[in-house]
Amino acid sequence: MNDQNLNAPPASFKPWAGRFNEPTDAFVEAFTASVDFDRRLYAYDIQGSIAHATMLARQGILSEAEQAAIVAGLERVRACIEAGDFTWSIPLEDVHMNVEAALTADIGEAGKKLHTGRSRNDQVATDVRLWLRAEIDLLAAAIARLQAALLALAEREVETVMPGFTHLQVAQPISFGHHMLAWFEMLERDRERLADGRRRLNVLPLGAAALAGTTYPIDRHLTAELLGFDRPAENSLDAVSDRDFAIEFTAAASILMMHLSRFSEELILWSSAQFGFVDLSDSFCTGSSIMPQKKNPDVPELVRGKTGRIFGHLMALLTLMKGQPLAYNKDNQEDKEPLFDTVDNLKGCLKVFADMMARLTCNRERMRGAARQGFATATDLADYLVRRGIPFRDAHEVVGKAVALGVREGRDLSELSLAELQSFSPLIGADVFGFLTLEGSLAARDHIGGTAPRQVRAALVRAQARLREAGF
Ligand code: ARG
Repeated sequence: MNDQNLNAPPASFKPWAGRFNEPTDAFVEAFTASVDFDRRLYAYDIQGSIAHATMLARQGILSEAEQAAIVAGLERVRACIEAGDFTWSIPLEDVHMNVEAALTADIGEAGKKLHTGRSRNDQVATDVRLWLRAEIDLLAAAIARLQAALLALAEREVETVMPGFTHLQVAQPISFGHHMLAWFEMLERDRERLADGRRRLNVLPLGAAALAGTTYPIDRHLTAELLGFDRPAENSLDAVSDRDFAIEFTAAASILMMHLSRFSEELILWSSAQFGFVDLSDSFCTGSSIMPQKKNPDVPELVRGKTGRIFGHLMALLTLMKGQPLAYNKDNQEDKEPLFDTVDNLKGCLKVFADMMARLTCNRERMRGAARQGFATATDLADYLVRRGIPFRDAHEVVGKAVALGVREGRDLSELSLAELQSFSPLIGADVFGFLTLEGSLAARDHIGGTAPRQVRAALVRAQARLREAGF
């Protein structure tokens, strides 16, 4: 084959030029072209074309010889692109016409028949779905990898006590492993959301042609099967025009990024000198050019920062769609860059987060100290009084007074004497100290979903099984 042919469609060649009397304005040509970014879809464009040609031949619309020439030619175009030898042409507008022109330059007449019973409208909708489906599978694996890193960390730190927070004020002691499993759950739902969207996007647009279907005796079920789609899209107008699958994906991506951003915020706080709960590995931080003492948590900061652009892409796609009458409009060409950027950034964030969490170290003593200083077992004292027969609201008041004394004197509840405690309620006995320890507090929350180490260990086993069952 002559490589030159693949790269040399005449610059003026436009498959649609027949009804035009004037050439395209040079600026308009560049303005309307999408090849600079949609060339990224080439492998899916070729895959879709091979399936389409195969179906056309099975239906007798193309000859076997034509189909064979088309498939061989498309494979050569693919090899040429992959070798970096392909010259993309702006006058040829987009990836679809670039590939088709190269094919025709290579194999001649048969190449011109590939577009029988097809339009770029159903072609592009198919390409984007094929591409996004593959990316979703990679993203699901990347989420699972982060989840696995969290499970390993949780397993190591089941017994590590930290203060749990509400309003960013110390609330009750919790297991650090339990805290990590909370993030596992959120990521589990993120993975499910992607899988759910994948199920809805996995229908075949090809056959819808421009908008109304085609006059050829096509077999859409066959094309769907060849491309791994669950079924052909029911309605041709819908198939070529809606991009709700892209919006749904970007919405799921936004929720995932919102989670990673919240998680980042915790890591940024926890790694500060004031908290000192965790250490991020040096290899995930940077220094300051002026302040020698600094070790900045750039990675979680950047993840938190990138969340904004993903939310932006969701807004862009929603807005792109909202004013469009049926069916295809050129507006839809604008769906690709937000999608590509969303996928690229999501992949980067998930990879760096998993690597970072795999190397995170906990400062167990700092976390313990923070839980002790914050009166984290005050609820346990109230629960103790309730077990002695005091209504919870009254117990709350009693403990509030004991905490006020502790605050005045700089002592934790467990550091008050029995006599001091009894001055607030005579029902308090010497056994109270067993409940005021951090370990006692944790162990008492002993039910499914609770922070008792026994429960956290059981939750870990269930979480590992869920990841395995999902195929990771
Ligand atoms: N580049 C176009 C897109 O991304 C391909 C479809 C063009 N169809 C058309 N009728 N102009 O949407």
